[in-house]
Amino acid sequence: MKSFTPSEISPRELHKILLSGVAPRPIALVGTADPRGNVNLSPYSFFNAFSSNPPVVAFGPAHRATDGTAKDTYTNLMATGECTISAVTHSMVEQSNLSSCMYPPDVDEFAKAGFTKRPSQDVKPPSVMESPFAMECRLVQMINLAPEIKTSGNMAICRVVRLHVSGSIFNGDVIDPHKIDLVGRMGLSWYVRASGKAVFELPQPHVNGIGIDGLPDHIRKSPILTGNNLAKLAGVERKPARNHDFIKFDASMQAEDFSLELNSGNPYGALYALLTGTPPPPEKLQEKLHKVAQVFLAQDKIEEAWQTLMLPL
Ligand SMILES: Cc1cc2nc3c(=O)[nH]c(=O)nc-3n(C[C@H](O)[C@H](O)[C@H](O)COP(=O)(O)O)c2cc1C
Repeated sequence: MKSFTPSEISPRELHKILLSGVAPRPIALVGTADPRGNVNLSPYSFFNAFSSNPPVVAFGPAHRATDGTAKDTYTNLMATGECTISAVTHSMVEQSNLSSCMYPPDVDEFAKAGFTKRPSQDVKPPSVMESPFAMECRLVQMINLAPEIKTSGNMAICRVVRLHVSGSIFNGDVIDPHKIDLVGRMGLSWYVRASGKAVFELPQPHVNGIGIDGLPDHIRKSPILTGNNLAKLAGVERKPARNHDFIKFDASMQAEDFSLELNSGNPYGALYALLTGTPPPPEKLQEKLHKVAQVFLAQDKIEEAWQTLMLPL
């Protein structure tokens, strides 16, 4: 494990490492306008939402690493206090990337990137029509993160004053991640597509679980069960009682090969093969029971996993 302070490596190296570790980041496609009405559009992945009540987002327009001058987004935002933020979807990612080119301040980056302007209602700069999710924002505070550094980062904290959400991304009253199909920025030039198999659901705990430190030793110290497996087991409010009917198998059950059953995702078959075949030595039996519990956990059958782990050796 390498361990170092930021001052031990160059700002360039630090930038690469920090952005690879703090990832994926959502991308704000920020629209601003100068006081004369020249519009600007640029992507920012130092971006997130920080509160929904009030609705507040922030992004980080750094001063240019080349000469420490302010980016047009920063200058416009400081002059007018207004911006729009459009979400970047997979179908817009190349055009968004194009809008990051360093065009002079009077060049319209909506036009350069081939985006259509959606007129705003409460601020002057337009948002991107091609984006199914856009926000009109007012600057709350611009924080210069290190005034003593010419090329310092800045943090633009903005209040959302209006949202535009396309009906096409809804499933009922919730935004469907597969329909909005967002992309995120990772380190270097890596991106991630936040839809399809990359997206999974993990509801937040609704009870205080017993915790991993509350698991019996033979489970907590298992060489088979992973941290994710243990966390699922530890999410129960109290340790389940043994259910003696758990291994009363159906009369029609037929299973002979433990590994075959396990590998085909059939934990009951694996248990049956294990308990009706020649018994392995206790330490092997424990290992196999943990493997069965792991398959139950992968199927979100927490109670069954517990019952498997509580079987006497
Ligand atoms: C996906 C992506 C994310 C970016 N994120 C940031 C960022 O968080 N902060 C930043 O200062 N520049 C970021 N950049 C670079 C700016 O978009 C770029 O400097 C832009 O041209 C600034 O333009 P402006 O001078 O017209 O405001 C990013 C570029 C891309 C392609």
